[in-house]
Amino acid sequence: MKNYVVKGNLCYSENANSVRLLPNHYLVIENGLCAGTFAELPEKYRALPLEDFGDKLIMPGMSDLHVHAPQFSFRGLGMDMELLDWLNTYTFPEESKYRDLEYADRAYESFARHLRVSATTRAAVFGTIHVPATTLLMEKMEKSGLVSYIGKVNMNRNSPDFLCETSVEQALADTEQWICDTKDRFQNTYPIITPRFIPSCTDELMHGLRKLVEKYKVPVQSHLSENYGEIAWVQELCPDSKFYGDAYDRFGLFGGDHKCIMAHCVHSGEEEIELMRKNGVYIAHSPLSNSNLSSGVAPISKYMECGMNVALASDVAGGDTENLFRSIGHAIRASKLRWRLLDQQVAALTVDQAFYIATVGGGSFFGKVGSFEDGYEFDAIVIDDTALDHPQELSLRARFERSLYLSDDRQIAAKFVRAERLF
Ligand code: GUN
Ligand code: FE
Repeated sequence: MKNYVVKGNLCYSENANSVRLLPNHYLVIENGLCAGTFAELPEKYRALPLEDFGDKLIMPGMSDLHVHAPQFSFRGLGMDMELLDWLNTYTFPEESKYRDLEYADRAYESFARHLRVSATTRAAVFGTIHVPATTLLMEKMEKSGLVSYIGKVNMNRNSPDFLCETSVEQALADTEQWICDTKDRFQNTYPIITPRFIPSCTDELMHGLRKLVEKYKVPVQSHLSENYGEIAWVQELCPDSKFYGDAYDRFGLFGGDHKCIMAHCVHSGEEEIELMRKNGVYIAHSPLSNSNLSSGVAPISKYMECGMNVALASDVAGGDTENLFRSIGHAIRASKLRWRLLDQQVAALTVDQAFYIATVGGGSFFGKVGSFEDGYEFDAIVIDDTALDHPQELSLRARFERSLYLSDDRQIAAKFVRAERLF
């Protein structure tokens, strides 16, 4: 059923800086797409099925543009180190377990189950280097009803023996076979080329991945300018590169002719920023991770002002939760500390801006997604805020703000992805 009407308190971004709030409005869905909001339902739509959500809030689903499925198992653990030590101590040993398909089955079942009931309707996900486990993850994500890009991770240098490709040839052959096996297999789940980050991949491997991007027209995801130690290491490994992003760009893995997501961009310089803007690279802003791993705070409002593509991300397990409401609150909080302590030239994020990057910002990676304007795919979450009780009268605006700061899965009463109702 792709033609119907929902009714409730509609909340969605009208632009990057402001939210439109429509109390007790009708939203018409035609062929799965938003086709108008109305205070009074026009005659021609009155025969359509109507789902009345009463006093609940209806908002677009959110996109998590950077999350590591195999790290979900240790979310909330191991926050005592910075990135490079954290990877070696906690992350790589855990990811190596996904060679065991039985372990992967249990772990990915848990990941997909949690994501299904979360605010996330679309995601860009890292798996591990293991093809069978990554394909299994795709099957589970397809079943979840969410729309996602899933990456088989590539890493063949500076990686422990227990989590390293056996050879460049093998890595590329595995990746190509996996793309062929999965690219047309699912309705809502797609492969994405995933070099872990520059320190993990030799030049030869990167050249090979670029050829796969060209051949199969698949997008790319990786990490960029997250941590000072990492950035210095990339400069050592690639002395000819002008900056970290240039090291990807030299291989043709930095957007331009393909869609590209770079997580973090905490310490990007002006040249890197300009190249990302020019190439339409998506910045997956991961504020919880950037605080947990002491990486820093990315200048998000500056990126938005420059007209760059900015999305929100959990980066589990650098981020401790998949709950994007927490990331919204923390993006705002961290931006205020950055403004206060570091740089008054870059304004703190507003609630409306953080909501925008969580919905339209990341949604645009998938097409017309993340809004209820005409022509957008209908992805939505319905918020029941009655348990967030309060003694005073609250405006819809106040309820909207509180919902973003205070909600978790328990407030999500219904969820729609591509106009299909998940629950
Ligand atoms: N850089 C390379 N790998 C990772 C990872 O797994 N998480 C984070 N946050 N940064 C990375
Ligand atoms: Fe990450």
